[in-house]
Amino acid sequence: MRKPFIGGNWKMNTDSKSAVELAKSVVQKCGPMPGKVDICICPPFVYLPAVKNALGSSNISLGAQDVYFESKGAFTGEISCQMLKDIGCKDVIIGHSERRHVLGETDELINKKLLAAIDAGLLPIFCVGELLEQRKAGKTEQIVKEQVQKGLKGITVEKAKAVTIAYEPVWAIGTGINASPQQAQEVHLMIRQLIAAMYNKDFAGQIRIQYGGSVKPDNAAELIAQADVDGFLVGGASLKADDFAAIVKAAAER
Ligand code: PGA
Repeated sequence: MRKPFIGGNWKMNTDSKSAVELAKSVVQKCGPMPGKVDICICPPFVYLPAVKNALGSSNISLGAQDVYFESKGAFTGEISCQMLKDIGCKDVIIGHSERRHVLGETDELINKKLLAAIDAGLLPIFCVGELLEQRKAGKTEQIVKEQVQKGLKGITVEKAKAVTIAYEPVWAIGTGINASPQQAQEVHLMIRQLIAAMYNKDFAGQIRIQYGGSVKPDNAAELIAQADVDGFLVGGASLKADDFAAIVKAAAER
């Protein structure tokens, strides 16, 4: 049985005071639940050390929202995997749809980031998902398949064990319209079958696939009840400790 994994993606929100308060509140409300679920929170880069401090000895891990693939040098504004490790990050989101579609990241760049993160000992949350027009055109499977294949290109099964995949339909992110449990399950199953074909059946049974896109306390239970939904990547609702804790609880009780 795959242990549910819940990530909180704070995106470009909070400030130095509210980030620490939110982290402390998450520890207090979710603290008793790790064991049944893995939890990570991903604040903006600049608040990572303060949030790390606020997490203290809790089981909640620290994640970054992005990373660059080079280890050091003249890359103004970028952050390396080694820097993230250095300040205590365990997880890192790679290929989020906002980075793909707002910042123009390509599958090739995402692949380099995944390789670098795994080699550095980070645990990537690798995001994939189709746009609304792609879904309407019946291209969901094709797009998601392509993103998974290109993103994981050249990554061996041993290395892929570090990866969690997050299926996040772009039309569901921040819109309040979540994929229905059936829509999510359909794509999650397709991804798992693809992983079986790319690697092997055993590994496909182990890899965790999170769902992301307007996950809220009132839809978390029915989504996590799906056979191939192994957790969530939560945006908006991760900014409220009560909502995030309710989502974690739904996963812990499944
Ligand atoms: P949302 O964001 O929960 O606000 O829809 C999810 C995500 O972008 O990871």
